[in-house]
Parts: sequence; structure tokens; C-alpha cells
Amino acid sequence: MVGVIRGTGACLPETIVDNEDLAGIMDTSDEWIRERTGIARRRLIREETTVSMAVRAAERALEDAGVGAEEIDLILVSTVSSNTVLPSTACAVQEQIGADSAVCFDLNAACTGFLFGLSTAQTYIYAGAAKHVLVIGAESLSGLVNWEDRSTAILFGDGAGAVVLCAREGDFPPLVMHSDGGRGRVLTCGSPFEGAGGYPAQSPGSSAAKDREGARAPFIRMDGQEIFRFAVRQVPGCIEELLEKCGRSLEEIDLFLLHQANARIVEGIARRLRADPAKFPMNLAEYGNTSSASIPILLDELNRGGRLREGMRLVLAGFGAGLSWGAAYLEWQKERS
Ligand code: COA
Repeated sequence: MVGVIRGTGACLPETIVDNEDLAGIMDTSDEWIRERTGIARRRLIREETTVSMAVRAAERALEDAGVGAEEIDLILVSTVSSNTVLPSTACAVQEQIGADSAVCFDLNAACTGFLFGLSTAQTYIYAGAAKHVLVIGAESLSGLVNWEDRSTAILFGDGAGAVVLCAREGDFPPLVMHSDGGRGRVLTCGSPFEGAGGYPAQSPGSSAAKDREGARAPFIRMDGQEIFRFAVRQVPGCIEELLEKCGRSLEEIDLFLLHQANARIVEGIARRLRADPAKFPMNLAEYGNTSSASIPILLDELNRGGRLREGMRLVLAGFGAGLSWGAAYLEWQKERS
């Protein structure tokens, strides 16, 4: 069995913060941000939360797929910015959409998270353990960036995207996933207690609760140039590995949907592959880097914009903290045959 995407959905916060707004609160400029990243504005949560955006994206994807919440038997949410440590965002989504029969869990693979979610969903489906799966990427990174650090704060945005996968006869789909924890230090976000080596151990009568009062907020920290080099070097090789696995040439691929981190990264990957840059759609000018939500948000825009025709050959590719990276091949078969 294989999972095919029957529906997509997205949810973006209403509040728009453009580069000029940021230039008003930090030493930066619209020109610098656009030139270095391609980002013009981003959406940031006010009333919304990671859970509320995940719920809305899921509802839209279910509606698009014509699948009822009660039919869903697995909900996977990729997030690094869950409202709460416990319970998971996936369980909160289950409750709010009424997917009572679903098994639910979150996974953290940062900006590659949607790809890891997709591969986990395909594994469940192939094993016969699930027939209808919701895969969601949902993030509120505005709560994890240091708004006094101009080199990271300008990059990220909030949002959620979702797909509904339905099982049908077929082989396990071509997927390539990689992790390299040895290079993890170039992109991190600690716990509030990282200086003390993580969450403090507690024993009866310990004063950990009191210690937590003074904890610092965790922030995203990165070596931007190292991440840039990692993405532009690693992702083309990963896509080539994927194409070899599925026996397709670069020219046979209609669209490459890459994680939306930086326009120069996407362009650099296209150049290294010697692929037509027109096959690499981008929406990061509008939303910035929404981490694990970026690929499903882009997919939803293309789907709803009528840009995906039946039978189109797509490559999805993500990269990010871990380090982690991966790619998936799929043929767009949204209509039930
Ligand atoms: N506005 C104005 N100047 C800024 C700035 C900002 N927002 N952020 C950094 N600068 C300054 C730096 O302080 C530096 O000044 P200096 O030369 O006086 O020291 C100068 O711009 C160049 O900084 P540098 O870090 O070399 O710029 P860069 O060309 O590498 O661009 C990034 C920085 C972050 C845009 C780029 O490295 C990048 O996008 N990396 C990938 C990050 C990413 O995608 N992370 C998530 C992956 S999932």
C-alpha cells in the first residue's frame, strides 16, 4: 500500500510584519533582508497558537480531501514549538477536530519535519497500520527567536500546513532521509535551563520549581553561513539520490518543492542541479521560514492555485536542524480513480 495526497490545507496568522516594521525595531533594512534572503514580510501569531493553526490547516485539508475526521487513524504533527510540552499538539488537534479513532503523536525534525512526518505516514500505510493519515507541520517560531538578534529574527515566520494521505494499492514510495547529529551545533535552540545542562533533575523535596523561575528563555541560535553551505551542498546530492532510487531524470520532474528558508538557498540548489529555476516555486517572500510548515503551505498554495495537474511529478525536499535533510518523490493523484 502507498499513501496518496488527497487534500491540502494551510493556516497563516493574520498579523503581517514587513521588513520596514523590523527596521523600526532593530538595525536592519528592507533592502538588506530582501537581498540576502528574498523575504519581504512574515506572519506572526497574536491570537493564534501552534495548536489553533494546526487545527485550522487540518480542517481545510480534510475538507479538500472529502475525508471525515472520524476516518483518520493517524495524526502526525511536526513541530518544535508546541503550545505545551505535554500533551502533544497532535493530541490537541485530535480533540478539536473530533478524530476519535486516531493515534496521535508529534515529531521533532525541525525544518525537515514535514518530510519525516510524510515518511512515517508512508511507513504506517505500507505496513497496513493506517489508511487515512493527517500529516501537519505547525510552528510559532516567533516565540523562539531572540528579537534582539537581527541575524535570526528576520528569517522566521509562523504558520501551519497539512495534508491528508489516503491508502491505495502500490509500492512503498521513493524517499531519502538523512541525519547528522555530529553537525548539530550549527543550529540550536536550548531549553530554558541549558546553562545548567537541560531540565534540572528533580527528587522529592528538590527546589527545581524555584530554580525554574529564573530560567532564561530559549532562543534559536545559528551559524548562518554554515547552514547556508550545508543546504546548498547537501540537498542537491539528496535529490540526485532520490531520483536514482525512483529511476527518474531531473528533466522528468515538473516541480521541486523545497523548504522555504532563503531564496538564495533555493536558487543555489537549482543551479547545482543544473535544473530550470522556474521549476522551484517559492512563497518565502510572503511568509519567511516557517520551518516544518513551509513545504505543506507551499503545496497547499499550488494545489488551491490550480498549478498541480494530475500525474505531475513532484520532488519535495527539506533541510534543517539536527542536522537533518530529506527528499520525497510523488506523482500528484489527488482525484480518486
Ligand atoms: N540586517 C543588516 N545587517 C545584518 C543583518 C540584518 N538583519 N544580519 C546580519 N547583518 C550583518 C552582519 O552583522 C554582518 O556585518 P559585519 O560584516 O559588519 O560583521 C553582515 O551583515 C554580513 O553578515 P553575514 O552573516 O556574513 O551575512 P550572510 O550573507 O551570511 O547572510 C543570513 C546572513 C542569515 C541571511 C544567511 O547566512 C542565511 O540565510 N543563512 C541560512 C540561515 C537559514 O536558512 N537557517 C535556517 C535553516 S532551516
